[in-house]
Amino acid sequence: MKIIMLGAPGAGKGTQAEMIMEKYDLPHISTGDIFRANIKAGTELGVKAKAYIDKGQLVPDSLTIDLVMDRISQPDCNGGYILDGFPRTIPQAESLSAALRSRGDSLDYAINVHVPDEKIVTRMSGRRACPGCGHTYHVVYAAPHEEGICDKCGSALYLRDDDAPETVKKRLAVYHNQTQPLIEYYCGKKILRTVDGTKDLEEVFQDITNILGA
Ligand code: AP5
Ligand code: MG
Repeated sequence: MKIIMLGAPGAGKGTQAEMIMEKYDLPHISTGDIFRANIKAGTELGVKAKAYIDKGQLVPDSLTIDLVMDRISQPDCNGGYILDGFPRTIPQAESLSAALRSRGDSLDYAINVHVPDEKIVTRMSGRRACPGCGHTYHVVYAAPHEEGICDKCGSALYLRDDDAPETVKKRLAVYHNQTQPLIEYYCGKKILRTVDGTKDLEEVFQDITNILGA
């Protein structure tokens, strides 16, 4: 099964993708996580990506598309995958379609997690991320057992630099401008499924499993 996750920043794409990964045993590929790992490691890609991410802008397609095409051609992706945060532009979507088509393949589902803008800024200020295993928490909605510590790996949780309210507002504007057109694009391909991302995270996951099947 090949799935892409669509939705505004903070809609819950990463949270749901992680739950899908566990239930359906599919690799979870988050371009945001790949960029953050490169920033942490100080790679050339990380240095370039950071300049865009810190401003709330998209990393250029020229740095993003090949990275993902290479990742999905790895053997662990043979049985499918969940792409979280890619595609984010029409050229990214078309590159993905073309790569799949060349193998006689296609996407199965584009899951759009819908959350209105006014809920996003408060959600993001409460998000805490784990630098060790990448798991995401929320101080109110998905709190760790011990404040500030990852339940899964024990690392100290942190607030993402790009979750500052001003940067979140810029990311939302970029989302509406460059990424939202993908909703129409995948509707046209008849694989779009929209879920209400304002529900409790277990309920959102239930709605997604109803779509994907047991
Ligand atoms: P990326 O890391 O993908 O950020 P994003 O799309 O802005 O999305 P987020 O990770 O912020 O949110 P999410 O939807 O995953 O929400 P989450 O599950 O964490 O990208 C970062 C940057 O990298 C981009 O801005 C861009 O610069 C660059 N980039 C990445 N991919 C790119 C690409 N393809 N092309 C170009 N540039 C690219 O949830 C948010 C919070 O809400 C958490 O605290 C969570 O616990 C909580 N929460 C989740 N669900 C619920 C719920 N149902 N109820 C209550 N709380 C909830
Ligand atoms: Mg995410």
